[in-house]
Amino acid sequence: HELDIKLEMLEKGGYDHFMLKEIYEQPRSIRDCLRGRIYPKTGKVQLGGIKEYTEKLKNIDRIIIVACGTSWHAGLVGEYLIEEYARIPVEVEYASEFRYRNPIITEKDLVIAISQSGETADTMAAIELAKEKGATIFGVCNVVGASIPRASHAGVYTHAGPEIGVASTKAFTAQVTALTLIAFYAAQQRGAITQSKLIEYLTELNEIPELVERALECNEQVKSIAEKFKDSNNCLFLGRGSSFPVALEGALKLKEISYIHAEGYPAAEMKHGPIALIDEEMPVVFIATKNSSYEKVVSNIQEVKARKGKVIAIVSEGDIDVKEMADYVIEIPQTNEAFVPLIATIPLQLLAYHIAVMRNCNVDQPRNLAKSVTVE
Ligand code: G6P
Repeated sequence: HELDIKLEMLEKGGYDHFMLKEIYEQPRSIRDCLRGRIYPKTGKVQLGGIKEYTEKLKNIDRIIIVACGTSWHAGLVGEYLIEEYARIPVEVEYASEFRYRNPIITEKDLVIAISQSGETADTMAAIELAKEKGATIFGVCNVVGASIPRASHAGVYTHAGPEIGVASTKAFTAQVTALTLIAFYAAQQRGAITQSKLIEYLTELNEIPELVERALECNEQVKSIAEKFKDSNNCLFLGRGSSFPVALEGALKLKEISYIHAEGYPAAEMKHGPIALIDEEMPVVFIATKNSSYEKVVSNIQEVKARKGKVIAIVSEGDIDVKEMADYVIEIPQTNEAFVPLIATIPLQLLAYHIAVMRNCNVDQPRNLAKSVTVE
């Protein structure tokens, strides 16, 4: 028994939990996902796993992304990136909803199935259905050789390494990285982006692992914020654009491991409902980084403050405006709008982690949840 405990400590690499270890592995797991796939100097993206389907990718009319849980959130970020850079219409569906409708799918559709485990029953069934209707299937999976990658025509492995914590962390950022690569690869092949732009983006993408490393430096500060909010019963997460799925993921992490009720919302939708919940007890986490929707988010923060809500804002380094309004700000390195989800997710993972630890929750094995759901 003592040996078991020692072995587990060894496996956790000096961290108290697998989740924390996996959060800290992200600079490396993102790097592993990028390795050998981007050439910033020449502006080239290479994806060996889908190369044979390049012609197909050039000719498809639409992409449907199917996934569950955290992988579905990665899909929403993917939708934003693929539409923005490759200009292909994208729909993102819960695999469980998709498979029980009579979805309209043709040979001109590409279905991207995202799954960490590669074994999720609903996602697998969605693939089978789409295949029957003649669609091409790409898998974005972490576990090599799992059922979903085997059932797919082609795919991009995320290479995040084994994820033990039930709440997904490094697998999520690796999925977002893989989808970013697919977006730029499709953009390149379809001529939707200029070579010079691609060089610019890939140069920045190549620096993301270092920026994630720097983002992790907020840990102690996040821990002290967690101390303030550990007894909350509710929490709201708000973001716009590609930070909306980041808000959803932040809320999911918190509810999964700390059992605090949390909701993610597009910041502009707050006025259509969630605003009614805001009082002096309500923590509201904003993703308010410096990008195209910044001004809009700032006015949403003002709306929360006018109702005495407690604002925790994730901001870009050097931000001044939000600092004056928010109760707590967490600074993260500035990056191109395309890559904000990869950085902004980090403090939200840490926030959920520390709150759960402070509430004495079983961080790595939250109640009622399973790492891979092979039943429907
Ligand atoms: C379970 C896990 C989640 C995961 C979801 C989808 O609910 O607890 O962390 O996001 O399944 O799993 P997949 O392996 O398909 O990504």
